[in-house]
Amino acid sequence: MVRPFDSRPRPLRQTASIRDFAAAKAAGRKLVIVTAYDAWSARLLADQPVDALLVGDSAMMVVHGERDTLGATTELMALHTRAVARGAPGKLIIADMPFLTVRRGPAHALECAAQLLRAGAQAVKVEGVRGHAGVIGHLVESGIPVMGHLGLTPQSVNALGGYRVQGRNAAAAAQLREEAAMLAEAGAFALVLECVPATLAREITAASRVPTIGIGAGRHCDGQVLVLHDLLGLDPEFRPRFARRFVDGAALVRRGATRFASAVRRGTFPVAKEGF
Ligand code: KIV
Repeated sequence: MVRPFDSRPRPLRQTASIRDFAAAKAAGRKLVIVTAYDAWSARLLADQPVDALLVGDSAMMVVHGERDTLGATTELMALHTRAVARGAPGKLIIADMPFLTVRRGPAHALECAAQLLRAGAQAVKVEGVRGHAGVIGHLVESGIPVMGHLGLTPQSVNALGGYRVQGRNAAAAAQLREEAAMLAEAGAFALVLECVPATLAREITAASRVPTIGIGAGRHCDGQVLVLHDLLGLDPEFRPRFARRFVDGAALVRRGATRFASAVRRGTFPVAKEGF
């Protein structure tokens, strides 16, 4: 039996908005973002001290078992976004713009972003900026808050030659500094820095008027984001250096399944009070 999620009362206002991001940077308060892809985990996160939930296209890898994020479509991201919005109606929800959606012109990007906002997001995240700064500006001017994403941008995995640390040499670092400035200029409200050296992330953070959110970018960013499944340790085979396991979720899942199976086989589940 499953309880419908949307039968619960909805809070009248969000617990955080993009304005809180600027305020947090000004006050030196660290921002915390966690990914979410479904209603049940969003419900568990709804009352936790995280500033926003990111419906990342990492869903393709984490939830759907793909090798990369390229298969995400606007429809699929909208479906995940709707589920997260049902689970955590009071949270600030940021949804990823899928692969190439910002490269097909402003009208296409606007329609995709609108679908994500209609599904329950309050902001979108866009990877990269070169060649589509104008599209980002168009979204922002249309009232759609945009979070940028630089460094290791997974949608460009084929161009980058794999999931590698970015900005290691002087030229690449200068390029990243310039892109961070371009994003702020285009009106992004925050900027994810993924897999860049901590010293470079620190420099960009100090120079940037918008908050930086790091993942594999050291501790000097204005905030941090992690994939929920990584921080819960749900995938024993995936152990990136930057993703600390705050609990051993894989052990918990396995223990639960083992206990269930053994209780069924020993005849101790279900007992009378667990039936009708
Ligand atoms: O898709 C995603 O989850 C992301 C974060 C890892 C930043 O882009």
